[in-house]
Amino acid sequence: MPADSLSLLLPDETATAALARAIAGALQPGTTIHLSGDLGSGKTAFTRALLRALGHTGRAKSPTFTLVEPYNLSKFNLYHFDFYRLSSERAWLDAGFDEYLDGRGVVVIEWPEMAGNTLPEPDLLLRIRCDPAAGGDARRVDAHARGPQGLACLNAIRAAGCFGPEPAPR
Ligand SMILES: Nc1ncnc2c1ncn2[C@@H]1O[C@H](COP(=O)(O)OP(=O)(O)O)[C@@H](O)[C@H]1O
Ligand SMILES: [Mg+2]
Repeated sequence: MPADSLSLLLPDETATAALARAIAGALQPGTTIHLSGDLGSGKTAFTRALLRALGHTGRAKSPTFTLVEPYNLSKFNLYHFDFYRLSSERAWLDAGFDEYLDGRGVVVIEWPEMAGNTLPEPDLLLRIRCDPAAGGDARRVDAHARGPQGLACLNAIRAAGCFGPEPAPR
């Protein structure tokens, strides 16, 4: 399966929203995205921007306590998971949440590592981290894609064209 990756610098939350818009345009039913990164790195902020880009106008609650929040969007359903408080690697399976991974909805998962290897590999993995040296709101994102749906996301990010790995030289 073809794999590819890309490293991005997002100077502020507007850039995070632009990344989300680029990815939103490439999503297909069944695309799965894993979001890795420390608390406060911006996983939920990214997901909220993704939902807005997909036309969701209401509130977007963090699924920290519910494990999953479902959204009925015009193009597909989106399931936003947060496994930070998963009691065991299998707990999401025992709760029957694997029915959301049936290939019909888009799936976004924060803290996928909490589920160990009970989760299938995603189409797109975004590793997000703060970069204080680049400014308080700056985030570095390493994007790793697998398979056609992941590569479609990476191509959309590249086509958006404003996510250089380094700030432009002055
Ligand atoms: N470039 C950025 N991208 C995403 N969030 C940012 C950025 N700059 C500042 N923030 C802020 O950082 C916080 C990220 O919190 P959150 O998205 O809940 O993190 P996580 O879900 O990773 O724990 C939010 O308050 C958001 O407004
Ligand atoms: Mg979060």
